[in-house]
Amino acid sequence: MSESLLSVENLNAYYDKAHILQDVSFQVNPLERVAILGRNGMGKSTLFKSILGLEKIRREGDVYLNGHNVMNKETFETANLGVAYVPQGWQLFPSLSVDEHLQIAHTPHAGEHEWTPDSVYELFPEIKARKKVSGTKLSGGEQQMLAIARALVRNPWLILMDEPSEGISTFVIERVIEVCQHMAERNVSLLLVEQNLDLALRAAQKVYILVNGRIVYTTSTEDFKEDKESQIHYLGV
Ligand SMILES: Nc1ncnc2c1ncn2[C@@H]1O[C@H](COP(=O)(O)OP(=O)(O)O)[C@@H](O)[C@H]1O
Ligand SMILES: [Mg+2]
Repeated sequence: MSESLLSVENLNAYYDKAHILQDVSFQVNPLERVAILGRNGMGKSTLFKSILGLEKIRREGDVYLNGHNVMNKETFETANLGVAYVPQGWQLFPSLSVDEHLQIAHTPHAGEHEWTPDSVYELFPEIKARKKVSGTKLSGGEQQMLAIARALVRNPWLILMDEPSEGISTFVIERVIEVCQHMAERNVSLLLVEQNLDLALRAAQKVYILVNGRIVYTTSTEDFKEDKESQIHYLGV
């Protein structure tokens, strides 16, 4: 057991015989914003799918969410412990309007800071103007905003955000960074996986580097910002 909100301990994950995640361990503490940086194919999306129990990935090790071991739980049970997911590629539904995505996801919350469809529309007025439009008819940037809004209205303790910079303009990237920076004010912690160094360094406080399914380096964003040598070495940027 652990005091962390999320504690991943010696997680291994396999697609059939391919051993993708290798002894991955890290924590996210309450109200912390953490980024896992890694190039394409390093295992970032697999990490989220393994935490959530998606796609029948074979996994070994321990994942604790709010002190509960979720390794033997179904995805919906893990989600109900207070984790929401913003998948790579957004995974919105063509048959649902923007507003329907939010109404269906909305999970009331007894605490002081409840996210509602109306309050996320204040955060993202661009999608409020598109309320009745099918989720998949939106621009990439609008789909990203809707995917984040959908996660917020679940009123989770923790949001897992998979490559939010992908497929969106620099303007929307700025909006996403701003929203990430203010999550703690609403009692939400963030775990982000990214290739985009600028977004990760501005959105998060702590950085882990994932190379070939292993965490090879841990540092604060402050230190990593100055450490051009490690940026080149691990990320080739
Ligand atoms: N469904 C799958 N079946 C088999 N191999 C997969 C599958 N999804 C991803 N992989 C492999 O796992 C590795 C990690 O992929 P992924 O987690 O998507 O990386 P990232 O998100 O960092 O780009 C890659 O080598 C990829 O080819
Ligand atoms: Mg990915």
